[in-house]
Amino acid sequence: MGVYVVTGSASGMGAAVAQRLRDEGHDVIGVDLADADVTADLSTRDGRIAASRAVLAAAEGPLDGAVLAAGMGPRRGRERMLVEVNYLGVTELLDAIRPRLAQAGNAKVVVFGSNSTTSTPLVPRGAVRALLDGDAAKSARILTRRGPLSAPASYAASKIAVARWVRRVGVGADWAGSGIRMNVIAPGPVMTPLLAGQLASPTGSQVRSFPVPIREYGTPDQLAHWVMTMLSPAADFMVGSVITVDGGTEALLRPDDW
Ligand code: NAI
Repeated sequence: MGVYVVTGSASGMGAAVAQRLRDEGHDVIGVDLADADVTADLSTRDGRIAASRAVLAAAEGPLDGAVLAAGMGPRRGRERMLVEVNYLGVTELLDAIRPRLAQAGNAKVVVFGSNSTTSTPLVPRGAVRALLDGDAAKSARILTRRGPLSAPASYAASKIAVARWVRRVGVGADWAGSGIRMNVIAPGPVMTPLLAGQLASPTGSQVRSFPVPIREYGTPDQLAHWVMTMLSPAADFMVGSVITVDGGTEALLRPDDW
């Protein structure tokens, strides 16, 4: 049985993944703001350092995998916090625990992206670039200038940046070269507290009008099922892939982008 880190373990898809791992007999180190083995705030650098130290202490030895599900949905006025959680909450934590993942020999990492990366118009490229340079303050400044569009743009920018980071570093000597298989899952709308919050917000009607050809929202357990496959030996030959599971939205909006 393995030892896995799951961020965002207290709710939604992170909770569903943690449950499935525990049901299979694995040890899970859950990380979240509350109700977790490690309580930490991934929106601050100090919180991320504390989280990684606590995870390494709890694991003691090698880590067989990590699932980075902690995330914030779009919220105007919270651009800086959002990019810190959704981007640095993934990259800084993974950088800190990478040596323990390498020790396992064939560890698997699944990062939560989003299909908003391909469905959100006018995402400022400078904000994505700033994040990839590790400059969350600059990224948030650029995003805030978008006015009413800053919330969806921030969310998409954070998810574009995190997917690019996975694809850039994931193929390198420190990651794939150390036997770590790191990939991204990109869900469409999945019925979790995050989506419920979006639907109940002033922009809820826009969220409802988002086209989903299958005409229903995903469930946390459906997505957890895919994550389990991406943590299994089925993913031994899979690195840097972005797996879209979204009820058909991406195909509907970009049928010929292949
Ligand atoms: P959720 O809101 O149910 O769970 C997210 C968890 O992240 C919560 O337990 C929350 O406490 C934790 N979190 C938020 N900020 C944190 C912080 N500063 N420090 C530590 N933990 C923090 O959300 P859901 O829907 O399960 O989302 C999981 C991932 O999937 C997120 O990265 C989200 O962006 C992504 N996603 C969700 C979609 C959806 O429709 N629900 C669609 C596409 C992607």
